[in-house]
Amino acid sequence: MKLISGKEVSQIVKDEIKKETQQLLEKQIKVKLAVVIVGDDPASHIYVRNKKKACEYVGFESVEYALPEDTAEDELLEIIDKLNEDETVNGILCQLPLPKHIDEKKVINAISPLKDVDAFHPVNVGKIMIGDYDFLPCTPAGIMRLIESTGYDVNGKDCVVIGRSNIVGKPMSMLMLQKNATVTICHSRTSNINEKIKNADIVIAAVGIPEFVKGDMVKDGALVIDVGINRKEDGKLCGDVDFDEVSKKASYITPVPGGVGPMTIAMLMQNTLKAAKLHNNIT
Ligand code: GUN
Repeated sequence: MKLISGKEVSQIVKDEIKKETQQLLEKQIKVKLAVVIVGDDPASHIYVRNKKKACEYVGFESVEYALPEDTAEDELLEIIDKLNEDETVNGILCQLPLPKHIDEKKVINAISPLKDVDAFHPVNVGKIMIGDYDFLPCTPAGIMRLIESTGYDVNGKDCVVIGRSNIVGKPMSMLMLQKNATVTICHSRTSNINEKIKNADIVIAAVGIPEFVKGDMVKDGALVIDVGINRKEDGKLCGDVDFDEVSKKASYITPVPGGVGPMTIAMLMQNTLKAAKLHNNIT
């Protein structure tokens, strides 16, 4: 079994971005990400802090709009509009989930597709479907980069994606399809899910159930990607994959933490750099 280290690969990606950002700065081009967060969700605040730290590392400017829980939807939409118009801002990220009184879809639709570094806007989602995109959603893009780092050839392989979210499961399936994998998307209503997982050469678990994938469920030599971040009863972090069991059978596996998580942030940096290059007509 070989461990796929998101910590190592994300460091390589961030260092590439840092170098390129330096070259842009020499041409007086600055890169700036605006991060909007509404409310006090502690996990969201940790994610935002890590995103800002990554900006600092690669040499981007970042500006944070931390808004109170009771912020009106209109007020949030106004801020997004202002950021859309602001030519110094290259990327806009609105941390999800939003408080219940705010319509998430409306907010996602309000962000200019040209600054949508999460790739959540319907225009960007549509572009991914036809394989003609500027931005990829950060977690699926990070997973593709992790798989590439192993040299594993996805072409013609059977891939099971467990989970069908708009952020991970659905775009992930599309990217694997574009690499010529045969993709099965499993979810809570899937029949004979164990059989489907057992047949897969590649398993991508994004189901949100602690240690859902057990050792006896995977094929010998499978490549296993764990997208989950769950907390066990003893407070320890764990993924959607039972690492101790599955690592005995997998050819490659990502750990939690230190697998997919750091890649998501590295890919956000990549999207923000891409946005800055697009805005400055640099190819
Ligand atoms: N909440 C959980 N994951 C994400 C993400 O990738 N982007 C944003 N904006 N919010 C999230």
